[in-house]
Amino acid sequence: MAPVRVSVVIASTRPTRIGHHVADWVLAGLRDLAAPAGRTVEVTVHDLRELALPFLDEPGQPADGHYVHDHTRQWSAAMSATDALVLVMPEYNRGYNAALKNAIDYLYAEWDGLPVGLVGYGWHGASYAKSALQQTLERVKMTVVDGPGLSFEETLTQEGEVRADDEAQAALDTMLGELVTTARTPG
Ligand SMILES: Cc1cc2nc3c(=O)[nH]c(=O)nc-3n(C[C@H](O)[C@H](O)[C@H](O)COP(=O)(O)O)c2cc1C
Repeated sequence: MAPVRVSVVIASTRPTRIGHHVADWVLAGLRDLAAPAGRTVEVTVHDLRELALPFLDEPGQPADGHYVHDHTRQWSAAMSATDALVLVMPEYNRGYNAALKNAIDYLYAEWDGLPVGLVGYGWHGASYAKSALQQTLERVKMTVVDGPGLSFEETLTQEGEVRADDEAQAALDTMLGELVTTARTPG
């Protein structure tokens, strides 16, 4: 049976970001995850800082799917080859970060039916960012699976050290389990 292909997106692009530390915690959770019977889990990290998509520069509507730029085609191919997605996302000014919105706006059909788990971090677990993002993800027909929100001075230091308590760890494990069992079927 084909592996379940899980993509983990590091949304922050700041030079002094901590998002990659939170992503490491997610990757450890994926390593410990029991794969669905007869399948393996294949994990790919997509770092929006490395991807460096320009502000949306496609002349056509993403919903039409006619892409003229290589960066769009590469991003499209990566997300088409994804069965379940995890977004590791900071909260900026009670929203989610602009690079993440831009990356979502580039595509359309690629998102259809894709289960997506949200791992937010910031003060109060990035709850505003997660709630704002939910509306966007529903618009592009992704299936949102809620996940942990790491909070400064509780489960995360401002330097990026994850100190997950039982609740946060259980929220991550439950989210990852649900993502792999509801993963999109290739084809
Ligand atoms: C532009 C900006 C706005 C921010 N606004 C919020 C906010 O509204 N809520 C919050 O919890 N943290 C906020 N923060 C703090 C971030 O949660 C914190 O800097 C975190 O480390 C950002 O993730 P990153 O380092 O991976 O980019 C903000 C940070 C920046 C840079």
